[in-house]
Amino acid sequence: MTLTENRAADRFLLHGPVANGKPLITSERVALWWLDLAEIGEGDWGRLASLLNEEERSRSERFHFERDKQVYVAAHASCRGLLTYCTGHAPQSWQFAAEDYGKPELVCPPDGPRLRINISHTRGLAAVALTVDRDIGVDVEWLQRSAPTEKLAESVFAARECEILAAVPDSQKIETFLSFWTLKEAYVKAIGKGLSQPLAAFSFDLETLRIHFDDTVRDDPENWWFERYRPGPDHLMALAVRHPDPVRLKIDATPAPLEYLRCLAAI
Ligand SMILES: CC(C)(COP(=O)(O)OP(=O)(O)OC[C@H]1O[C@@H](n2cnc3c(N)ncnc32)[C@H](O)[C@@H]1OP(=O)(O)O)[C@@H](O)C(=O)NCCC(=O)NCCS
Repeated sequence: MTLTENRAADRFLLHGPVANGKPLITSERVALWWLDLAEIGEGDWGRLASLLNEEERSRSERFHFERDKQVYVAAHASCRGLLTYCTGHAPQSWQFAAEDYGKPELVCPPDGPRLRINISHTRGLAAVALTVDRDIGVDVEWLQRSAPTEKLAESVFAARECEILAAVPDSQKIETFLSFWTLKEAYVKAIGKGLSQPLAAFSFDLETLRIHFDDTVRDDPENWWFERYRPGPDHLMALAVRHPDPVRLKIDATPAPLEYLRCLAAI
């Protein structure tokens, strides 16, 4: 499932939700959940929606297509569920405020840990990544889409990335394109700038997962850690975390425990 085996997984989420009030998440840990919509039963939707707050519930009602509503509900229920799993606070108790470029950040008490979270959703899959203090971004994409990969890459990717994409056989174009795309989106989401950050100003090496910045970007590759995942046959996912000493980071990436979310909704 992890596409790079350069780090032993730390399964700190395996031992169950927070106990004795000691938060599971620290500035050295990242918790990453994904939720495959195919796993969610008809009877689950109402329960998942009950984990959302009023504002999210009313936003979810405004989607035109059921498919978009469901993935929104899955993403935001996972987000609130992961926060509860790691901290013990009630799912609906969390408030978000939008930063300058629209990145939702948790409102945390000034004397407590500054939790940082990011959500991504695509057709059939939702993901959420949580840590403390560190800039964090996650991106998921559906693999089955037919995109004009090379043309699109030429308008948004760095020259080196376009060369690599041009060199791979047609059968690998979509996967290579989306491998770059998810990493790039994870980075722009971590820094909070979204697509207002030009995507051609930085590039990735898909083997080492190192980032390279051109002269227009004031950032340090040494402070970044990236991971790639294949959460299922139809999806790619990438994670970006800013950390002054990335080797200390422990990342637990796992499917969201649906049974836990169901129980949470029943409380
Ligand atoms: C952030 C952005 C890259 C999301 O891309 P996407 O692949 O369509 O969506 P994803 O599913 O991966 O992520 C969406 C989630 O990211 C979060 N998000 C929104 N803005 C964000 C930002 N600037 N940085 C990080 N995360 C952001 C939200 O939680 C959102 O989910 P929600 O709307 O259900 O709450 C893109 O929408 C964007 O750049 N927005 C900022 C506005 C902007 O610069 N627009 C430029 C065009 S005018």
